[in-house]
Order: sequence, then C-alpha cells, then structure tokens
Amino acid sequence: MRNLITHPPRLPLIAASILSADFARMGAECDAILNQGADLLHVDVMDGHFVPNLTMGPDMVRAVRRAVPRAFLDVHLMVRDPDRFVGPFAEAGADHLTFHIEVTGPGRAETLAERVHALGCTAGLAFNPGTSVDDVRSLIGPFQLFLVMSVNPGFSGQAFITDVLPKTEAIAASVKSDQRIQMDGGIKVTNSAQVRRAGCDVMVVASGLFGASPVERPRIITELRGVQ
Ligand code: DX5
Ligand code: ZN
Repeated sequence: MRNLITHPPRLPLIAASILSADFARMGAECDAILNQGADLLHVDVMDGHFVPNLTMGPDMVRAVRRAVPRAFLDVHLMVRDPDRFVGPFAEAGADHLTFHIEVTGPGRAETLAERVHALGCTAGLAFNPGTSVDDVRSLIGPFQLFLVMSVNPGFSGQAFITDVLPKTEAIAASVKSDQRIQMDGGIKVTNSAQVRRAGCDVMVVASGLFGASPVERPRIITELRGVQ
C-alpha cells in the first residue's frame, strides 16, 4: 500500500475530515471528496472521555475501507486509552494512527509508536493547543507525523486558534524531510496561507470542505494548497 505520509506525491496534502460528511451517505461522500481533489481521509475518533463528544469506531474505518479501497485512512485517536484501540483500528484498515501526548506522556508515546509500526501503520503524535512542545526533540525519532491542534478537540466548525502558529514553526524547525506536520481545526481558505507558512504540510479540513457545495470543493482544495 502506498504511504502518503512518508512518500507524498506533492505537498501540502489536503486531509478531508469525514466528521462533517453526511453519515447516512458516508461511502459516497468519501469517494466524492477524493474525486474532488482531497489526498486522504481523516477519521476523527472521540471517546466521550478525552474529549466531550462521541463519534466513530473501528467499524466505520472498516466500512469506509470497503466502500473506498483506494483511500488513505488517517485515524486521529482522541481517546483516553489509545493502547487499547490501535490494534482494532489497524485491523479495520487504517493506514496511519495518531494519538495524543496528553494521554501517553513522553515515555509511553515512544513504545506505542513502535506498536503502531508493528501493526503496519505510520504513527503520529498530537498536541492540544495548550500543550507545550518543549520536549518534542526527544520524541522526534519514532513519529512520521506531528499533529498540531488548532482548536480544542471535540467538534468540527470551531474557530482557528492563531496562538498555535509559533509552536508549529518550532516543530517544523526540528523535523526531518520525511516527517510531516499536520494542523487540524478551523482551517479555511482564508487562513490557509498562514498555516502553510508556519510549516504545516498536511491540512485537515472538515466543515470548510463538507460544508461547501460539491461544485465548489475542487476550487477550495486548490486554494487551500496555495498552488495555482
Ligand atoms: C476536531 C477534529 C477535527 C475537526 C476539524 O476535534 O479533530 O479534525 O473535524 O473540523 P473543522 O475543519 O470544521 O474545524
Ligand atoms: Zn482530527
């Protein structure tokens, strides 16, 4: 299977978050957004504990994998116990698994990344807006992606938190060329230039894509990339 995280065909990548898709038409929505120009699908998993919302589980990943076999599935685990769920999500067809430093701490983060690799997936480490990245340097090695949250996780459609941009620049200065920096939350065409300038090369967008009409989405994706 191709690996869009370490072998992207182009950058920045646009990750469509299916949290804002029509759940009753999920297969068709996923197929359409890839045809409209998105590079990968971002799957927001929320457990009602780490964040105040419940969304989807391994069965959704399995269903999307079956409906859209070509999709690269980037699973964002906003859960209190990621150790328990990396196996089921990998088995269901995830390509990439991101978990949060707020629940693992630095020590467990590294061990869990190794488990994710053993399951055949790339690994990502996420930081909430209020979490400092001071000790990220010691953690750079095992991860293929760093996710900077630009909203407090839990819901689509929240306002972008500009304060996370300096932190993104600091991570960007520390990573290697095959490690990605992803940003997630409140990204729209209007702020995408500052997101890219900060060093982000994987932009997660939910309401900014699925909230627009299908005919508008190819243009929105082109403008998010900033490539004419
Ligand atoms: C937020 C999720 C995001 C969310 C983004 O908790 O992790 O992926 O779906 O939604 P928008 O793009 O609408 O802010
Ligand atoms: Zn997300």
